[in-house]
Amino acid sequence: MRPALPAVLDRTHERLFVAGYAWVQTRSEAAGMRSVRRSLVAEAAGRVLEVGAGTGLNLDHYGAAVDELVLVEPAAAMRDALRASRTGGPAVRVLDGTGEALPADDASVDTVVGTFVLCSVADPGAVLSEVARVLRPGGTYLGLEHVRAADRRVARAQRLVAPGWRVLARGCRCDQDAVALVRSSPLTLESTSSFRGPRQPWPVRPGVRLVARRP
Ligand SMILES: C[S@@+](CC[C@H](N)C(=O)[O-])C[C@H]1O[C@@H](n2cnc3c(N)ncnc32)[C@H](O)[C@@H]1O
Repeated sequence: MRPALPAVLDRTHERLFVAGYAWVQTRSEAAGMRSVRRSLVAEAAGRVLEVGAGTGLNLDHYGAAVDELVLVEPAAAMRDALRASRTGGPAVRVLDGTGEALPADDASVDTVVGTFVLCSVADPGAVLSEVARVLRPGGTYLGLEHVRAADRRVARAQRLVAPGWRVLARGCRCDQDAVALVRSSPLTLESTSSFRGPRQPWPVRPGVRLVARRP
């Protein structure tokens, strides 16, 4: 769990985090993250649910194969940014909700997208179980996550800064092993590939692209 703050401080922290996140991500997108996102999201098709959609950095990449797009996001400031950033494309609904209790029926979704979100949710195992519940059999989970570095010295440094980073970045666990989480979930992991995490702050580099399927 993220350390609790009084409500008024929490709202201010959320607004500051959204502004800071948008600033960091603008630089990262320009340095190459945009094409990492585009190649992942291009695989989304049919009825698509994006969990923890944030400020909407994936929205431009959903293509003609998407019939319907549901964006689930618990942070009010992120939902405001999401509504503002939508420019066109498939029918979109923005819903208040969490990954631990996805607002969708069993086996009702063709693709779930989650980018840099397993790090921030309270219970990543519960979220992956929910993803498996809402996906139809054979449906696809498309993910990008930052992960614990393979270099032991960097991994140790990530572990050292993790408690402070968690407070600063609203619960983000910078030293999490996202691949192991998906492997131990009800989903079948189909492929992983690494990316550098261009111009991301060092505790949240490197990254991994994940494709998994509901059996
Ligand atoms: C690091 S941001 C990533 C945002 C976006 N997916 C992206 O790729 O830029 C993490 C997001 O997860 C959201 N989040 C936090 N806890 C969550 C939960 N329990 N369920 C769903 N989303 C959550 C945050 O509000 C935030 O939008």
